[in-house]
Amino acid sequence: MRLLIMGAPGAGKGTQAALIKDAYNISHISTGDMFRKAIKEQTATGIEAKKFIDKGQLVPDYVTNNLVRERLAEADCAKGFLLDGYPRNVEQAVELDKILAELNIKLDAVINITVDDKILIDRITGRRTCTKCGASYHVVANKPKQEGICDVCGSELIQRADDTEETIKSRLEVYYGKTEPVLSHYEKQGLVKNVYGMASIDEIFANIKKVLGEF
Ligand code: AP5
Ligand code: MG
Repeated sequence: MRLLIMGAPGAGKGTQAALIKDAYNISHISTGDMFRKAIKEQTATGIEAKKFIDKGQLVPDYVTNNLVRERLAEADCAKGFLLDGYPRNVEQAVELDKILAELNIKLDAVINITVDDKILIDRITGRRTCTKCGASYHVVANKPKQEGICDVCGSELIQRADDTEETIKSRLEVYYGKTEPVLSHYEKQGLVKNVYGMASIDEIFANIKKVLGEF
């Protein structure tokens, strides 16, 4: 299964991706997680990406496209993958079409999680993220078993550097201006499956499995 998961910042892409990758035994590729790892390791990509991420802007396409091209060529992606946070503008979507054509593969579906802005802001400001594995929690809706500690790997939970009210505003502007139009690109290919995102994590996951049921 080769999938994309789309939706505004805080829509629950990472939360659902963690469930989907286990259920379908596919690799989860989050460009945001890849950039945060690069920032932590202070690689050249990380230093470049940080300048944009901290302002809630998109990292330049040449950086992002190369990262994804290299990642999709890795062996584990042959069993299937779920791309989360890419493509984020129409230029990246056109580039992804080329990358997939080079690999001689096609996407099966684009899952689009829909959530209102007011709820997005609450989800983002209440989010706590694992410093090691990137798992997402929420101070009210999705608490870890032990406060401040990741259920999955036992590492420390922190608030992401770009989860400030100010940065969220520009992330939402970027989403509506540049990322939402990507949906039309995939609607033309008949791939978009809309999933209502203002429900519990389990209910949303059940609906994702339902829309993917035909595969
Ligand atoms: P990225 O890491 O992709 O961030 P994002 O798109 O802003 O999305 P988030 O990770 O914030 O939200 P999510 O949908 O994963 O929500 P989550 O599951 O965590 O990108 C970060 C930055 O990197 C970008 O701004 C950009 O600068 C750069 N970047 C990344 N990709 C790029 C690209 N392709 N090109 C250029 N630049 C790129 O959930 C959110 C919260 O809600 C959590 O607290 C969670 O516990 C909670 N929650 C989830 N589901 C529910 C529910 N059903 N009910 C209640 N709470 C819930
Ligand atoms: Mg995420």
